[in-house]
Amino acid sequence: MRTTQRKTLPLGLLFAGSMLLASRAAAQDVTIPVETQHNAIVLQTDAEKHLNMVYLGAKLANTAEYARIQKMYKQADDSGVQNDVYTPSGSASLGEPAITVTHADGNKSLNLAYVSHTVSKVDDDISLLVVTLKDPAYDFEVKLYYKTYFKEDVTEQWSVIKHNEKGIVTLNKYASANLNLKGNTTGGFWLKQYHGNWAMEVQPEEARLTHGIKTIDSKLGTRANLYEHSMFAISLDKPATEDEGKVFYGAMEWSGNFRVDFELDVANNLKIIAGINNAASEYHLKPNTEFTTPAFLYTYSDHGKGDASRKLQSWARKYKIVDGEGSRLTLLNNWESTYFDFNESKLAGLLKDTKKLGVDLFLLDDGWFGNSHPRNGDNAGLGDWQENKQKLPNGISSLVKEAQANGVKFGIWIEPEMVNPASDLYKAHPDWVIKQPNRPEKYFRNQLVLDLANPKVQDFVFGVVDGLFTKNPDLAYIKWDCNAVIYNAYSAYLKKDQSHIYVDYVNGLYNVLKRVRAKYPKVPLMLCSGGGGRVDYGALQYFTEYWPSDNTDPLERVFIQWEYSFFYPAITSSNHVTDWGKQPIKYRVDVAMMGKMGFDIVIGKLSENDLSFCQSALKNYDALKDVIWHGDQYRLASPWDNDAASIMYVNTDKSKAVMFNYLVNNRYGSGSKVPVRLKGLDPNKKYRVKEINLYPGTGSVLGNEDLTFTGDFLMNVGINPEASTYHTSVVLQLEAI
Ligand code: DGJ
Repeated sequence: MRTTQRKTLPLGLLFAGSMLLASRAAAQDVTIPVETQHNAIVLQTDAEKHLNMVYLGAKLANTAEYARIQKMYKQADDSGVQNDVYTPSGSASLGEPAITVTHADGNKSLNLAYVSHTVSKVDDDISLLVVTLKDPAYDFEVKLYYKTYFKEDVTEQWSVIKHNEKGIVTLNKYASANLNLKGNTTGGFWLKQYHGNWAMEVQPEEARLTHGIKTIDSKLGTRANLYEHSMFAISLDKPATEDEGKVFYGAMEWSGNFRVDFELDVANNLKIIAGINNAASEYHLKPNTEFTTPAFLYTYSDHGKGDASRKLQSWARKYKIVDGEGSRLTLLNNWESTYFDFNESKLAGLLKDTKKLGVDLFLLDDGWFGNSHPRNGDNAGLGDWQENKQKLPNGISSLVKEAQANGVKFGIWIEPEMVNPASDLYKAHPDWVIKQPNRPEKYFRNQLVLDLANPKVQDFVFGVVDGLFTKNPDLAYIKWDCNAVIYNAYSAYLKKDQSHIYVDYVNGLYNVLKRVRAKYPKVPLMLCSGGGGRVDYGALQYFTEYWPSDNTDPLERVFIQWEYSFFYPAITSSNHVTDWGKQPIKYRVDVAMMGKMGFDIVIGKLSENDLSFCQSALKNYDALKDVIWHGDQYRLASPWDNDAASIMYVNTDKSKAVMFNYLVNNRYGSGSKVPVRLKGLDPNKKYRVKEINLYPGTGSVLGNEDLTFTGDFLMNVGINPEASTYHTSVVLQLEAI
């Protein structure tokens, strides 16, 4: 990051509040380029000392030219065009605001002028720009933070709001970021967004933005992504493809209500405002206290969606998710094989199966707790985190030991944010439950949400996790579920600040997760929310992986995993082989293998061939998992446009790769008809291509020849994976020789 100033006035003196200084400062402009390896955002003051965002795109070779950008855009006051770096409301800016406030005196007008900025280097890769804006008429300040990851071309942006007025200021809207993209495209802006529901997560839609405002948001409180996601892509000119086109990717790092506004103005400029959803969420800010928004995450690429998503994936592995460059545990889960119906002897059998299958860990799902209200169904027990004495008379600790005796690890499911009315917890602490005092209770999956705004509830939730680990130090994994949305939002703890509930809930949850991570820094935690109801980087900074969907039909999963892959690296995607769908075991395993593999089937019911296939596929996975978890991912053929989807991973030195191919159209004659061009290989290296995960008794689609090709050939001509109705999935391993 560099700063260019046309005249030199000490930065701290600019706009110190007096009219004299203000008018002296008005003669000058300050240009702040926020650069990463390939891109730049440029901020620049105008004659009134408002800071504008005047550029977002490829960085310029001659950085001195950044200062000339603003002049290229004429801005008559009545043009309807606004470029504010953080649009205030009630003064001269009339576009969709990033911030709306009610001052202590009841006035609703805010004006923000540039005061100063600082740039500091956190390390070789990371820099932090902090820009201070102040209202000349009120003692009200916003600091904008831009944390840039140079090599990855990623920026996290957030704001810190503070005032020193005589009383409470109400924040009516308080976005994390406000970005402006110039209207000089050749075909407008194209928004790719996601909607969905339980078992049909991340359904994409892409369309050209029209004038006016388009908003994507959530008001669900907890399972915030159940219906919509804050992650999106904006293509410039035309929808970007995998390898071509200008594309901006953004997402809120926030696990609660979010709101992203896209406003296309009269000059075809696009303003993006992203933050916490302000619906029913005015925040009361005391003098001299700070309100810090969550971060909005973004990247930009001139080379299509593939490049943009690889940037996000490598950033996430390096900086965001827990142990992103480390290892993961394969597992056998019992949810679909037993549901709530298990006991010690059944589990003893499953622990043996875990070993027999060849995975690392057994994961005991829902149903292990509750005594006065046993958890034998989803209508009782949540909140009472004591082992059910009938099912588990010897407790979790004996299961952990038994797992060890079988040479596997043990993990457990919890849903600590929730309570069933049929529970001891609900009776003991009705004031810990989010519900309106004067309305009938409304349940989602027969349960209510605990009030994490309340520090005592935070202690309780932390205690659930801490208690499990303290009693069972060898416990090796936790699946953290969250199945209900917040209805009837009311916190007995918050009293007059009811409108804080959605924000304080999420911050309360993060407080708990921070405490968990401080004490248990690396233990694997799966982020689950009745499937993928809560997948975002705000939460994922505390988790090692997420559960994309309860829909494990592998055909559906090809599409679901494909779409998540635009934002999240394969190492975070928990893909389990289950009995959903009509596909053979080979297809189910091959689909699970493109991420973090697990199983949730009855091993005892597998035929000999199916079992031996799974066992040898796990050995192949072991040999390739480093490439899948830490390599670069290339989407080769989309399931939306082809009979077969193809996706591949290449390790850093390009010596090893794996290509997954899945038939997604089962009609007569469908299948791969032309070679698929590979990506990311070294053109000068020779690769031996071998089909792996062969079902017992079947031969390779590639025949018996020893196939070697140059990377050049594979990337320009390609290879036909021959996925067809006879071979519905084909996994190819490539090794440089
Ligand atoms: C919803 C999760 O998505 C499932 O995997 C399972 O853990 C159930 N909850 C248990 O109630």
